[in-house]
Parts: sequence; structure tokens; C-alpha cells
Amino acid sequence: KRPAGAPGRELARPITKIGVVGAGLMASQLALLFARQLGVPVVLTDIDQERVDKGVGYVHNEVDKLVAKGRLATDVATKAKALVTGSVSKEPFADADFVIEAVFEELSVKKQVFAELEAVVSPECILATNTSSLSVTAMAADLQHPGRLVGFHFFNPVAVMPLLEIVRAPKTEDAVLASAFELARGLKKTAVLVKDAPAFVVNRILLRLMGEVTAAFDEGTPARVADAALRPMGLPMTPFTLLAMVGLPVAQHVQESLNEAFGDRFPLSQNLQKLVDNNVRSLWSAAADGTQEIPAATAAL
Ligand code: 3HC
Repeated sequence: KRPAGAPGRELARPITKIGVVGAGLMASQLALLFARQLGVPVVLTDIDQERVDKGVGYVHNEVDKLVAKGRLATDVATKAKALVTGSVSKEPFADADFVIEAVFEELSVKKQVFAELEAVVSPECILATNTSSLSVTAMAADLQHPGRLVGFHFFNPVAVMPLLEIVRAPKTEDAVLASAFELARGLKKTAVLVKDAPAFVVNRILLRLMGEVTAAFDEGTPARVADAALRPMGLPMTPFTLLAMVGLPVAQHVQESLNEAFGDRFPLSQNLQKLVDNNVRSLWSAAADGTQEIPAATAAL
């Protein structure tokens, strides 16, 4: 059945090679998903070799973990690993059909990435953004071919979250949208078409809850108390565990975008800001069960 709003599948272009810009956690998860589900070559780029190596290393490590769990046969794992390569240059994207960016959530950075990409990729290459909350329309504004940009927004952890928000900007072409839906089908994700509105649909709704959680945090409710209070409520993850997984800077960017668009309905959190300013990545120590605050986080407040 065709998803609501999706153009006909016959318009979709074949995707035989994929580029991923950024080699952070989200980008690396995407590279792994593309290689595993689609079996196509995936090239991961970032600004320096160290980041690229880290991204490719993440993919190899995750594949090894799947083999160790008995989830992936060794020959399939070897193939998946070989499909993901890294490069500091965007030249390998010259013959890619689909390039997605998952770089820092800053409009100017994303625009710069797309300008560099357009200098390298073929005219038919589809460009996508995994932005959580920025305007896809604004990202397309200076493109030579704005019709080829589409929002392709995944959720953490990418391997298990079934949803994908596909964002249509005013100039996104039907063939590009159809290809995005076909790609989502290949990835076995449930794709929904959403408007290019601040934080789209899921994050906009989720941030109403998270805004109250961080407001209580600002007013003195310790994170472990808020999590303990909400643990029996049946959420798949308690709020601060979710914040830690998504990443505090990403959460803060989404909050800022929504605050800018809708004002006090999405209050900014001073504590979240302080934690980000102090480069605190998570409130919880990595191995903790979500009940132990790490000293760095406490010191930053
Ligand atoms: N990577 C890969 N697989 C993972 C994983 C990860 N980081 N975390 C968990 N999994 C897998 C496990 O291996 C397990 O797979 P299996 O059943 O095949 O063994 C499966 O997920 C279930 O894991 P667990 O049993 O350990 O734990 P849970 O039952 O608690 O499920 C969860 C984990 C699916 C992550 C669940 O806690 C959940 O749904 N949490 C909410 C996540 C969420 O809301 N994400 C959206 C955040 S917003 C966002 O990303 C948008 C962005 O723009 C900010």
C-alpha cells in the first residue's frame, strides 16, 4: 500500500551507491543501516581522517557485535563491512545516487555542506538531510537544483526505531520524494510524509514533554528523581535516559528551534544550556542503570 502522500513508485530512481556526510554517531548508524539493509556501497566522509576512521570503526564494531550475538552470519558481516568505506574528500560521491548529511545542527554548516556536494555530485543525485528541527526549505534556498533536496529524519537508535519522517519542501520533486519512499521501504522503515515545519511532527510533540521535564530540572528536581518518578509510567525510556541517548546538544538545538517558532510553549532550559556549554555529553555514566549522576554533570550546574 502506498504511504499517504507518496508519489507513485514508478517515479523512483535506483539507488546503487550512497554517501553519508558526517561520521558522528547518527551518521555511522545510517551507514551501517544502508549497507546492511540495501547491500550497496556506502561512503562516509567527515572533516578529518580521525573522525572518518572512528565512524568506519563504529560500523565494523557494530557488525562484529551482531555476529557475536548470532544475529549476522560471518560471510554477510564481511560483505557489510567491505561495503562501508571512509574518505575525507567528497570526490567518491561523484557516482552516488543518494547523499545524506548528518552533520552539526547549524543551518550555515548544512548549507555549506550542500554547496560542496553540488560541486561534486551528478545532476540526478538526490540530496537528503537528517536534520531534527531545521528548515529543509531554508537549506534548499541556495541550491542550484533545490528540487533534489528532501528531509529524511531518523530516530535513535536507528537500527531499532521503525519510524522515518520524510520531509517535503515546496520545491522537492516528485521523483525525489518517490525515491525517498522507495529507499525507506528497502530499509524496512515506516515512512510518513510530514510538512517542513519546525521539528516536524515527532520532535514537536516529544519536546512538549521534554520541555516540562527540563523545566522541573531547572526548578530543582534532580534528574534521577524525575526519571525514578516516570519509570513506572511505561514509557520505553525515562526522560533523562532518552536525553542522554539523543545527545544533549541535539536536544538543545531542537528546543531552540521550537522556542524560536512557538515561544513559551517550548521553554528553553538553563540547565540544559549549562551542560552543553560545559561539554557534558550525558548525565549518566555509560554503564549506569540510569540512577547515577556523573560528577561532571553535577559540577556543571
Ligand atoms: N543500537 C542497536 N540496537 C539497539 C540499541 C542500539 N543503540 N539499543 C537497543 N537495541 C536493540 C537491542 O539489541 C534489542 O534487540 P533484540 O531484541 O533484537 O535483542 C532491542 O533493541 C531491544 O533492546 P533492549 O531489550 O535492550 O531494551 P528496550 O526494550 O528498552 O528497547 C529501545 C530499547 C528500543 C531503544 C527502547 O528503550 C525505546 O524505544 N526507547 C525510546 C527511543 C526513542 O524514543 N527514540 C526517539 C528519540 S528522538 C530522536 O531520535 C529524534 C532526534 O531528532 C533527536
